[in-house]
Amino acid sequence: MSAAPHSTDPMDAAKRRAAEKAAELLRAGMRLGLGTGSTAWHFVNCVSEKIRGGMALICVPTSETTRAQAAALGIPLTTLDETPELDLTVDGADEFDPKLRLIKGGGGALLREKIVAAASARMIVITDRSKEVSCLGRFPLPVEIIPFGREATRRHVERAARQTGCAGPLAWRKAKSGLDFVTDSGNHILDCAFGQIPDPPALAAALSVIPGVVEHGLFIGLASAVIVADANGIEIKGELHQAASPSRS
Ligand code: 5RP
Repeated sequence: MSAAPHSTDPMDAAKRRAAEKAAELLRAGMRLGLGTGSTAWHFVNCVSEKIRGGMALICVPTSETTRAQAAALGIPLTTLDETPELDLTVDGADEFDPKLRLIKGGGGALLREKIVAAASARMIVITDRSKEVSCLGRFPLPVEIIPFGREATRRHVERAARQTGCAGPLAWRKAKSGLDFVTDSGNHILDCAFGQIPDPPALAAALSVIPGVVEHGLFIGLASAVIVADANGIEIKGELHQAASPSRS
């Protein structure tokens, strides 16, 4: 697969610029997590260019879609079993707030995305400006749920939401075929349209203890920086570069 010609869509151009900015962080020998989605797609293309230029990188994809793209581009791939610690993960997001808390999972890859981000020394998020919010929740929160007993699990999710100040319709995600969407790990996604999530850590904690909930799309304390691109340029939120470790005397 070769990279597509540059799009004339301004939002896609912004996504590409954010990806190119993140690619400036790449250094020879890095172990990388590759995100999923239309913004991460640009980053994977940038990684491929670096490798073609002679830079040695090894990568863990966060979805089968990204694996296919990376493999087609000849990017060396590994797994977290072989390479359990990564230097950097670059991924998109559906929303980010001023505390760099994220909603992810619009592409259904939240479980692997969170595992890969948690295995990384740094997670850098690349987005266009449309993903910026003052309060998370405008984007329906994806919750990945085991198919067995899913309606019972859904009731627990509703209760957890109520108890943490969230309300709104919950819907099982459908694939284009009209059948239930199935994640790379064989689970279903409950999209929770809360509108606002007043206390993301409380909701995250409440969801995490529900049997049948595999993972949720709240990424809290994982992103080191968000690279936001828009028509005016690039804005960096957070710390793009790793703080130097204190020298030992
Ligand atoms: C996939 C994700 C994506 O990062 C998120 O949906 C953003 O995608 P895009 O870059 O296409 O807007 O979380 O599970």
